[in-house]
Amino acid sequence: MGAMTIVVANQKGGVGKTTTAINLAAALAQKKLKTLLIDLDPQGNATLSFIDPDELQASMYELLVDPNITAEHVVRPSANEHLDILGARISLAKAEVKLVGEFDSHFRLKDKLEPIRDLYEYVVIDTPPTLGILTVNALVAASHLLVPIQSSYFALEGTDDLLETYEKIRSRPNPALEFLGVVITLHDRRTVLARDIQKQIRNVFGEKVFHTTISKSVRLEESPAYKQSIFTFAPTSSGATEYYSLSEEVIARV
Ligand SMILES: Nc1ncnc2c1ncn2[C@@H]1O[C@H](COP(=O)(O)OP(=O)(O)OP(=O)(O)O)[C@@H](O)[C@H]1O
Ligand SMILES: [Mg+2]
Repeated sequence: MGAMTIVVANQKGGVGKTTTAINLAAALAQKKLKTLLIDLDPQGNATLSFIDPDELQASMYELLVDPNITAEHVVRPSANEHLDILGARISLAKAEVKLVGEFDSHFRLKDKLEPIRDLYEYVVIDTPPTLGILTVNALVAASHLLVPIQSSYFALEGTDDLLETYEKIRSRPNPALEFLGVVITLHDRRTVLARDIQKQIRNVFGEKVFHTTISKSVRLEESPAYKQSIFTFAPTSSGATEYYSLSEEVIARV
């Protein structure tokens, strides 16, 4: 079976996928749980948050398209000894075109992870804001889906498409995929609107919504620029407390 593999997905842009993926992975590593963070977004923001992409000899693009490249070639350590990274560069944008029409295009990530999965307790995958081949590869390779939803007026717009894709993946390529939950992000506790939106999200997703809500925090925005997770950059900030508490809920739900 191997590691519990959590895909962080929402085809809406800027809802906190990357921030959630990097800090959830960091929280797990902080607990000395061996964790692998996979960046499946050509923007490479999760990669940039921990390593210098120029250090990558091979990246996710080569891993997905080149049969001779293995995950061992691509994986890099981070500053935290319990956290490794499979990094992406902008070249990953070419993967969609390259993989279209290949009979196994949706299984590339799953197959390439097989040899290293047992080395980790948790794998966390960051995905791009689309429901294309890259996100489908992540959903096929994963055991659990985690959906960040931004606390905003149009928060739930588009979640139907995501859930439809989730059901399609479950009906064929990956019946074992479980809906882990929804985390509300970028929440502004001071506004009535944000509280109303939170209620609305809880009405739709019920028990699936994590008790932990991630507040808006400048520290969370700043930490990637310093190549640090929130736990080393601002360990006493609200973001650190909240992502730590999210990680506890995640562990308890598996
Ligand atoms: N809780 C937060 N408080 C303040 N800023 C945040 C928070 N979460 C995310 N951000 C900031 O909001 C922006 C979007 O967040 P993030 O990159 O995590 O979203 P995303 O869903 O991965 O975006 P994309 O769809 O482009 O990949 C970033 O600048 C990030 O630093
Ligand atoms: Mg992102």
